Amino acid sequence: MTRVRMMERILSAYATVEGAGVRLHRAFGYYEVPQFDPFLMLDDFRSPRPEDYLAGFPSHPHRGIETVTYMLNGSVEHTDSMGNAGSVNAGDVQWMTAGSGIIHSEMPQPMNGRMGGFQLWVNLPRSGKMMKPRYQEIKNEDIPVVTPQKGITIRVICGVVDGVKGPVRDIIADPQYLDVTLGPDSVFSHEVKAGHTAMAYVIGGEGTFDIKEGYRVTNRDLVLFSDGDSIWAQSFEKGFRFLFISGKPIREPVAWRGPIVMNTRDELRLAFKEYEEGTFIKTKA
Ligand code: FE2
Repeated sequence: MTRVRMMERILSAYATVEGAGVRLHRAFGYYEVPQFDPFLMLDDFRSPRPEDYLAGFPSHPHRGIETVTYMLNGSVEHTDSMGNAGSVNAGDVQWMTAGSGIIHSEMPQPMNGRMGGFQLWVNLPRSGKMMKPRYQEIKNEDIPVVTPQKGITIRVICGVVDGVKGPVRDIIADPQYLDVTLGPDSVFSHEVKAGHTAMAYVIGGEGTFDIKEGYRVTNRDLVLFSDGDSIWAQSFEKGFRFLFISGKPIREPVAWRGPIVMNTRDELRLAFKEYEEGTFIKTKA
């Protein structure tokens, strides 16, 4: 018998300032560890005001995590210590495994006055914290769109929907990352591995994930699901759009300071010492 996951917690994204003064909304972060394990943070930088984000995220290090950038509007131009440079444009995904260390800058650019996207941080287990850094950069047109029934559209970034596998592969957390859009008054259900952490971040419209109570969630609400084998969603009259994210918990100690997340304080201290001394980068392109 399948167990439909319930809405265990609902959080509302809160306004905060990051990087060189970027105003964004944080769906969850430092204070929610370990409930979202293996996920560490989800930032929403959709904004109608260019002054909110133009300062960007100048040169900074990452170690021990993956950062996943998904853009809806505008772009993020990036350069890094491996010699990569490029931009993540509207509809694109960049799944960056920082592993042993990357130093990069991420500078948002508007397009037609609009800019918006999301950055998810995924923790790496002890065995992967010092792995070789790598990127999976997926262009908008290479993300498959599945329409399981009329009124439902799913962009499959990572994971499988109706036999269609998303282009992001071989991630340790065995994640799913879907951008789900339901037309008005539609119902959607989707299998999720039991024991995996699962959440939905609402990015438009209104709906519910609770088959019994029908508690409504709307833009910038984050739902953490209870355990089970599937999720269920229903849209209301305005339709409903959300990011669905799941992954296998790591269940290891978390030592986190800024953009570096390790298992112990000694590993953190070493990382910052190496950054100061110029020995942080272990792999060049
Ligand atoms: Fe970064």
